[in-house]
Amino acid sequence: MSAKIVYGMMRDGEEKAISDLVSRVFSEFVAPGYTSEGIDTFMAYTEPDAIDLRSLLGHNFVLTAKAGGLIVGAIEVRGHEHICLLFVDKEYQRRGIARELIRRAIVKCSKRRGFEYLSVNASPFAVPVYARLGFVQTDKEQLQDGIRYIPMLLVCK
Ligand SMILES: CC(C)(COP(=O)(O)OP(=O)(O)OC[C@H]1O[C@@H](n2cnc3c(N)ncnc32)[C@H](O)[C@@H]1OP(=O)(O)O)[C@@H](O)C(=O)NCCC(=O)NCCS
Repeated sequence: MSAKIVYGMMRDGEEKAISDLVSRVFSEFVAPGYTSEGIDTFMAYTEPDAIDLRSLLGHNFVLTAKAGGLIVGAIEVRGHEHICLLFVDKEYQRRGIARELIRRAIVKCSKRRGFEYLSVNASPFAVPVYARLGFVQTDKEQLQDGIRYIPMLLVCK
């Protein structure tokens, strides 16, 4: 628990560990509010092969947070403008890991010309967290393929 947190880009072969982390945290904190359709949709999205493919296509990047060599947090960003995944292991939550992952993602996104906003479809659980980080809600709660989310946006310009 007291291990130093090390941040970096996802490396080849880490997709499975990221998928395991995301599935585990999702199952505890997010899935209870979803329908079985939403859970299936999400689980397909977070399969190791799906993470790998999105990253290989070059449109998405993933940053990780590691403690003692184990992945305890991850953020995936699409098109240098949209957070697709942000998950932190239960034992490491509320220690600033999500804040730091987002800060580092913004630094990376800033390298894209015209970058002004970072958006997210927040899980109901994460809305207060994103609000603490400066994101504002841009629409009412949405339901798509069984997934409940709240569109939010951070102005970065
Ligand atoms: C959302 C999540 C990624 C936040 O990760 P985290 O590392 O614990 O977040 P941080 O410690 O960086 O906290 C960021 C801010 O949110 C606040 N915060 C963290 N967890 C909170 C909670 N459960 N309720 C209210 N505020 C919270 C922190 O106090 C901090 O604000 P502060 O710096 O002003 O005090 C993590 O709770 C998680 O994995 N949740 C389940 C999965 C999920 O819903 N992911 C989002 C999908 S869109």
